[in-house]
Amino acid sequence: MTVGAETKTHFVVDKSKCVKCGKCINTCSGMVIEFGQDGYPDMKEFERFGWRGCWRCQHCLAVCPQGAISIFGKKPEDSLPMPPKAMGEYMEQLVTGRRSCRRFLDKNVAPDIVTRILSAMAAVPTGGNAQGVEYTVIDDKDRVHEIWQEAYSVMDAKAKKHIYTHSFSDFYYSKMKQSEKTVRKDDLLFCGAPHLFIAHEKCVGKWAEDSKVNCNIATAYFELLCNAHGLGTTIMSYSAEVLNELAPKAREMLNIPKEHYMGLIVGFGYPEIEYARGVQKDRSAKTHRYSERKGR
Ligand SMILES: Cc1cc2nc3c(=O)[nH]c(=O)nc-3n(C[C@H](O)[C@H](O)[C@H](O)COP(=O)(O)O)c2cc1C
Repeated sequence: MTVGAETKTHFVVDKSKCVKCGKCINTCSGMVIEFGQDGYPDMKEFERFGWRGCWRCQHCLAVCPQGAISIFGKKPEDSLPMPPKAMGEYMEQLVTGRRSCRRFLDKNVAPDIVTRILSAMAAVPTGGNAQGVEYTVIDDKDRVHEIWQEAYSVMDAKAKKHIYTHSFSDFYYSKMKQSEKTVRKDDLLFCGAPHLFIAHEKCVGKWAEDSKVNCNIATAYFELLCNAHGLGTTIMSYSAEVLNELAPKAREMLNIPKEHYMGLIVGFGYPEIEYARGVQKDRSAKTHRYSERKGR
């Protein structure tokens, strides 16, 4: 394959393994793989990454049953194996057993757990596989405390003058203050979370909405991964509002560029509270399932 330096994929087929099944061609999002003169898959020339060429999705490497395809220097033998087929029940328990955690232990999470979670977070889907979403992780409780001090003091001082974020008011703020006695132990802002995770992305032009959705999807994946590792999480829009609208200095302490969308902050850490069972939410009235409506 001869492509420009800026479009190098290092797409390599091990011809001793390839059985010419064409699965790589049928899964290629960018439609840039085709059978070459010798009958083996090859990558066509393309203009640039994305819609005009390779999407960098690595589906070719992932799909090949023979492990014959390498791309971007990634070898098939270095991929994690696929999950067992019987994971449905485990995922159901994870989703229904996950709760928003608003009381945390005052200690740092073991760094290797955070590393594992962040490593899996590289695989989170993004529109067009653009992968523009960035993750800022404050995995040191002392640093979180410094950011908290800045944001909390500004927020509290402004509340005394009845100045709130766009979704808040005297009523909501006083409710949150009350909650510091119980559910949000001494901290209505970050719920005492020792760590913060923020998915953010430059948000401009016609893909701006996609950028926001990318961040929100990453937030949801991060929450589930944390819970799968026994950590507690809470997704917080209020604290993001405070940093965006009232306490710019605290936001600067996160080093997130001003032009980046930051709509949600995830507080995470070891949970103080363990739940004994799942809740029983019922969304059947808000689920519109075609095959059930058809019969009516
Ligand atoms: C978009 C969004 C914003 C949220 N913002 C906050 C928040 O600012 N503070 C908070 O304590 N919880 C926040 N939550 C958590 C919800 O309150 C929580 O999911 C809900 O009460 C249900 O509880 P559960 O997560 O345990 O099922 C948010 C959740 C979502 C999805």
